[in-house]
Amino acid sequence: MRIEIPREFERLGAVRIYGLQKVYELDAGGSPDVIARDDGVVRSLPAEAIHEVQRQMAIVVPVRSERLKLIESVLVGIPNPCLVIVVSNSPREPIDRHFLEQESIANFCQFTRKQVVIAHQRDPAVAAAFAAGDYPEILDEAGLVRHGKAEGMIIGTLLARLLGRRYVGFVDSDNYFPGAVNEYVRDYAAGFLMHGSDHTLVRIAWHSKPKIVEQALYFAKWGRSSRRCNRALNQLLSAYTGFETDIVKTGNAGEHALTLDLAMAMRYATGYAVEPHHYIDLLERHGGILPTERGDMRQLVRICQIESRNPHLHADKGDAHVADMIVGSLATIYHSRLCPPALRSRLEAELRQAGYLGEGEPVRAIRVYPSLTQLALDRFAAGMQEILDRRIGATAPANGAPVHAGHPA
Ligand code: GDP
Ligand code: CO
Repeated sequence: MRIEIPREFERLGAVRIYGLQKVYELDAGGSPDVIARDDGVVRSLPAEAIHEVQRQMAIVVPVRSERLKLIESVLVGIPNPCLVIVVSNSPREPIDRHFLEQESIANFCQFTRKQVVIAHQRDPAVAAAFAAGDYPEILDEAGLVRHGKAEGMIIGTLLARLLGRRYVGFVDSDNYFPGAVNEYVRDYAAGFLMHGSDHTLVRIAWHSKPKIVEQALYFAKWGRSSRRCNRALNQLLSAYTGFETDIVKTGNAGEHALTLDLAMAMRYATGYAVEPHHYIDLLERHGGILPTERGDMRQLVRICQIESRNPHLHADKGDAHVADMIVGSLATIYHSRLCPPALRSRLEAELRQAGYLGEGEPVRAIRVYPSLTQLALDRFAAGMQEILDRRIGATAPANGAPVHAGHPA
């Protein structure tokens, strides 16, 4: 892959947010000597180096009631070296959609000789593992893991950790183009190769989102929600640096990857606030603004943003869905301890003007989970063993211990 070296970054405390990086070649060839020919503007990363990172990566695919054809096309796009973890919250009755998903994934595994870990978010065994690990926050009144994409992401992250992966990346299961999925996962690897593998978060900004406007194909750049979310995050940064900025382009990036160490340390927000909250959590804890929980400014946290070349086409879920995303993203910024009063009133006015808040209705707070380091991992692991053993396409490990290799021989 040939990719631009970021020209600028904004720094707050230990957090560095790099400017958007463009991709110049999806495949820059394999020869390692291409690195020597770099000219300081772009870097070429040999295919083998990309694969080496992917061998240590798990890709989590959250699913809720997506069409089987879509899920399959996402799996087709994930590069072979990655371990695939599907976390589903599809209904099991009146029609057992999750059973259909399992069957279709098993079929895929048979053709590809690949191993896929599948967990159902509402599986009582998963809830029991969280209870055993002393992490009851994620459970609802029924004693099961709460509904929501963030909760699915947490399960996927923990499975990646138990299976010994060093990186975890996410791709939505409603993507129509396997080629786009394939590129995202390459972009993730490129981000880690360029920015190191300690505390790094790689986020994808879609090149465009095709839609039909006046009967012609139109490639829109920014969605309704990402425009507002990025602007609010940039205003938050500007409030502390004193310089107006537009560095944040990936506030809502569903497509992102992190080092597992960082993923375990992160506090996740629920609902559609999960992605913008990454920025908030990192700035709250490492931005050197609040009396931080960790005062070490030498341990850099890097946020890198890569612009994909493939357009993004996913299932259209309607206006109510976009409204939820806007409210969720702005609410997480509004309720941050970092949000200055002036920005807070601007966000509230924005939500009210656009009709997302009723008369006198407050901006509701977003639930934020404690970091996963609070979970007793050994006890959680014991509870999840049954799910790990049920991996599709794998032979159960002989001694019942989690296997660290990602794919069958
Ligand atoms: P958008 O793409 O951000 O507009 O949101 P989507 O509704 O497409 O959701 C993003 C991804 O999360 C899709 O792959 C969904 O199938 C998945 N998803 C949504 N809700 C849940 C949930 O409650 N649990 C899990 N595991 N996945 C979910
Ligand atoms: Co979607």
